[in-house]
Amino acid sequence: MKNLFILGNWKSNKTMTEAANWLEIFSKNMPQIPGHVSVIVCPGFIHLPLFSSRTAPFALGVQNVSAYETGAFTGEIAASMVANTVSYAMIGHSERRKHLGETDEVVAEKVKRVLSVGIRPVVCVSDVAQAEKLAASVPEFTKTGLILYEPLFAIGSGKSDSPENANIAAGSIHGILPETPILYGGSVTAENVRGFVGTEHITGVGVGGASLDAAKFLSLISAAL
Ligand code: 13P
Repeated sequence: MKNLFILGNWKSNKTMTEAANWLEIFSKNMPQIPGHVSVIVCPGFIHLPLFSSRTAPFALGVQNVSAYETGAFTGEIAASMVANTVSYAMIGHSERRKHLGETDEVVAEKVKRVLSVGIRPVVCVSDVAQAEKLAASVPEFTKTGLILYEPLFAIGSGKSDSPENANIAAGSIHGILPETPILYGGSVTAENVRGFVGTEHITGVGVGGASLDAAKFLSLISAAL
């Protein structure tokens, strides 16, 4: 059976209390997850101790890491600092590319840092060219990496891409990275998730808004199974 990845990206949201409430509801109600399905939650860095102190029924990820190793880089979180805590790291989300000036070169550096400490990178791309640059600059990405394809117009807009279009883009990315799992992101909900995971080239979804409410995220997971 085809693997399935369901990744929740909390972005810059939730106090510690809100995160604890979410975790309480989610853990109590999480359905039995078949072995071929990976649920990944990417909360804020501040929430990691809360999540890792409990036997959470999902994998943990971060939304970013530093492009540098440990050292004199005030405010940065190096990949090695979270290597024992998380299994995945999102890199190059379009919001970071847009608001924080993250370039393809910076993305490549971050991917190298993550790979060197055994974390699986989930590289976010909004077009095929970004995937092409990644494949050219970090060929070792193909061993363990994942691509999260998120067309810009679909992020947070309530207007997802069609599964057909998303599958065509994912097919083009597979032309460059044939072994890499490709997730679709952009206004994924419990109502539309099946359409995406049922396509040939899409092996999962990245979920922003609909992952913030534990009950909504649970419905989405159930709908995707
Ligand atoms: P939305 O699901 O809120 O559109 O966000 C998608 C996203 O950016 C996930 O990384």
